[in-house]
Amino acid sequence: MCGIVGVLGNHEVAPILVEALKRLEYRGYDSAGIATVNQGRLDRRRAVGKLVNLSDLLVHEPLAGKSGIGHTRWATHGAATVTNAHPHRSGPVAVVHNGIIENFRELRAELAEAGIAAETETDTETVALLARRFMDQGMAPREAARATLARLEGAFALLFLFDGEEDLMIAARKGSPLAIGHGDGEMFVGSDAIALAPMTDRITYLEEGDHAFVTREGVEIFDAGGRRANRDLTRIRVDQTRVEKAGYKHFMAKEIAEQPVVLGDAIKHYAGAGGIALPAGIDFAGLDRLTMVACGTAYYACLTAKYWFERLAGLNCEVDVASEFRYREPPLPANSVALFVSQSGETADTLAALRYAKEKVKKIVGVVNVPTSTIARESDVALPILAGIEVGVASTKAFTCQLTVLLLLALKAGLDRGQLTKAEVQGHLDDLAALPGLVNQALAREGEIAAIAAAVAEAQDVLFLGRGAMFPLALEGALKLKEISYIHAEGYASGELKHGPIALIDRAVPVVVLAPRDALFDKTVSNMQEVMARHGMVILLTDAAGAREAGEGTWKVLVLPKVADLLAPILYAIPAQLLAYHAAVAKGTDVDQPRNLAKSVTVE
Ligand code: F6R
Repeated sequence: MCGIVGVLGNHEVAPILVEALKRLEYRGYDSAGIATVNQGRLDRRRAVGKLVNLSDLLVHEPLAGKSGIGHTRWATHGAATVTNAHPHRSGPVAVVHNGIIENFRELRAELAEAGIAAETETDTETVALLARRFMDQGMAPREAARATLARLEGAFALLFLFDGEEDLMIAARKGSPLAIGHGDGEMFVGSDAIALAPMTDRITYLEEGDHAFVTREGVEIFDAGGRRANRDLTRIRVDQTRVEKAGYKHFMAKEIAEQPVVLGDAIKHYAGAGGIALPAGIDFAGLDRLTMVACGTAYYACLTAKYWFERLAGLNCEVDVASEFRYREPPLPANSVALFVSQSGETADTLAALRYAKEKVKKIVGVVNVPTSTIARESDVALPILAGIEVGVASTKAFTCQLTVLLLLALKAGLDRGQLTKAEVQGHLDDLAALPGLVNQALAREGEIAAIAAAVAEAQDVLFLGRGAMFPLALEGALKLKEISYIHAEGYASGELKHGPIALIDRAVPVVVLAPRDALFDKTVSNMQEVMARHGMVILLTDAAGAREAGEGTWKVLVLPKVADLLAPILYAIPAQLLAYHAAVAKGTDVDQPRNLAKSVTVE
């Protein structure tokens, strides 16, 4: 998390840095700050809270200069205070950082012994203190930065700026991505290309362990061994970097509404007249196991896909939360595939899990939204989900696109393993082709869902129930609601309710039941009756047949279009997302940037 940016420009840089930080604010918004060098003099401004506070500060205390670095913070070490805000400065050095310096305590102790005291609670300050110490010992900025980097353990993207150096920024990447942008007589650095999009479309990505000396003339890149390295210059598509709300009140609303289009794009990309069109090298025949690993919403997409892989392909399938997987040292059969799902492609735990699996399994498949991400680059095969940029912190369109790509993989597995015929697969693809239209119909229910959400917004606790492949969606529905509305919510497998959670049911607890009229419907309705018998307030999401058969006593019913059983988790995600969105709007929370969260979780 945290976003960093740097500019060696030809114009006043403060407004350019603030504009770029705006595009990075999805990575954290606990504080923001910039530093510039003006007539040789390094200076900085920092403010707690959202970027707008920094902008206000700059109105009253402007910062001149054509060279500068900036930061938007998601706090890891130390509270969100001005003192802990980046850039951190020690004497002639200013530093912005994304990641965690794991050995900072040891370095601090060493510095303290040398009489150099830390003033903040952050790990990042140690980097500035170390670099200053090396400069005090007579090293020039380049040498001092190199000596500093050699002492750091952990994951980082770092940018250094120096007093007296208006034409130098030093960038380093280990574990967290960094993009170098090439202008005409100007150079840029950013946590991602989106931040740099208004300035340039010519990007070089640093690779793991690289550091770079950036001047207005260009960039010199060195690999982890200190050797000069050539890294490709790529042109990014500007439409890949558009981050406007397009008239919507929130990015989340826009991203929910985009789903018919992006799902259509993903379906067209991976399934045509000739059947499923996945890149070569994905083959499930004869495999002993599939392991899927992810975090948060992406993990729930994997849990859903487990039902598909088992049912459609008879494939033994393990799903794990990345933060647990990486430390458990699970045995992985050599004759297996490991699949990593991540919207950002940069989630630290998922990436570490991928690296753990790397030499152990037959193939590493990445299912990502950002095609240039580290997970995409470190996978043997990377499958973009084609959701387009997702800015809202709560994942919506990425979730349904992840599900779509995973379903196509499960169908391919069914074919490869002789569990499905071509005709059966084609039948499922025909159903899939109709999905964007059904999603449109679900979106048309937004008014009804908003009315239900207004009532839900009054609740303290909400439960979500689902059975079979709808169970992971119950988990996802609860996550969505709690993360943006701050209402406590839990998801349960319907059949588990009576094993404990039913004790929570009373007249004040809305229970959202996700129950398309499928083979498991009667069982779910029985669980729903158990809730109603205890005066629970049931909100039933079902189709017309389900609504007819559910009987009396529900508090609210939302009727969705009839959908093929396999696709129900994708379709029913839409009302779950809208319910969370409208509950959050009713409560007046910060929908796109909920408290304590960040879009890209690049720390453990
Ligand atoms: C919730 C949400 C998170 C992410 C999780 C993984 O709405 O967005 O739970 O799903 O942090 O992120 P990625 O997919 O980028 O690895």
